[in-house]
Amino acid sequence: MTPFIIVAIDGGAASGKSSTARALSERFNLLHVDTGSFYRAISAELLRRKLTPDDLPAICAALPSIRLGTRVNGRTAHMEIDGRPIDAAEIRSQPVNETVARFAPIPELRAALLDYQRGQADVARSHGFRGLVMEGRDIGSKIFPDADLRFFLHADLEERAKRRRNEGLQDKVAERDILDNKRLLESAKGAIMIDSTNLTLEQVVEKISGIVAEKLK
Ligand code: DC
Repeated sequence: MTPFIIVAIDGGAASGKSSTARALSERFNLLHVDTGSFYRAISAELLRRKLTPDDLPAICAALPSIRLGTRVNGRTAHMEIDGRPIDAAEIRSQPVNETVARFAPIPELRAALLDYQRGQADVARSHGFRGLVMEGRDIGSKIFPDADLRFFLHADLEERAKRRRNEGLQDKVAERDILDNKRLLESAKGAIMIDSTNLTLEQVVEKISGIVAEKLK
């Protein structure tokens, strides 16, 4: 039987995680799980309920009533909230960009997402994938510390801000990194470090694919 493989990719905002994870999912038939999109979807839902990151008691009261589901489209896992798929434009919107890094550290919110994220392995199995590639900030440190492979993608700040501008997105990459810093440092420990500052996406994917292929032998 082919072994089920879990690949964790952590890194800062715009470090190239999503493009790399997507390419790996295609190449190795893995479910692509972008946990940043989960934090974004929940932030969008909280904003929809007129809550801000400072409304801690109201957020804690709201969380148990947010029913999370997963829909697999192609090779990607999408979060559904109360049976409603979350629109891609909504989770990349300016209000979400501006608040997600302040919603994300709330321990109750992270706890609410823990089992949901680990459960993506069952989603991948039940859809016949060979494994999953999960990207985020704490995948190798908290969600799947026993992942078969743990990567940390680094790129210089200036290069990452440029990537976001080239995508036509306004994103305060530096500010979000400061808010995410503790988690980033933890997930970098013991991970395979890939510096993508001077590499093309294809070169990053080739590098990581070689390591994944070796692991699957
Ligand atoms: O990967 P991204 O930029 O779309 O992530 C959005 C935010 O979600 C990011 O600022 C930090 C948070 N996040 C997190 O705290 N833990 C994760 N595993 C993934 C994302």
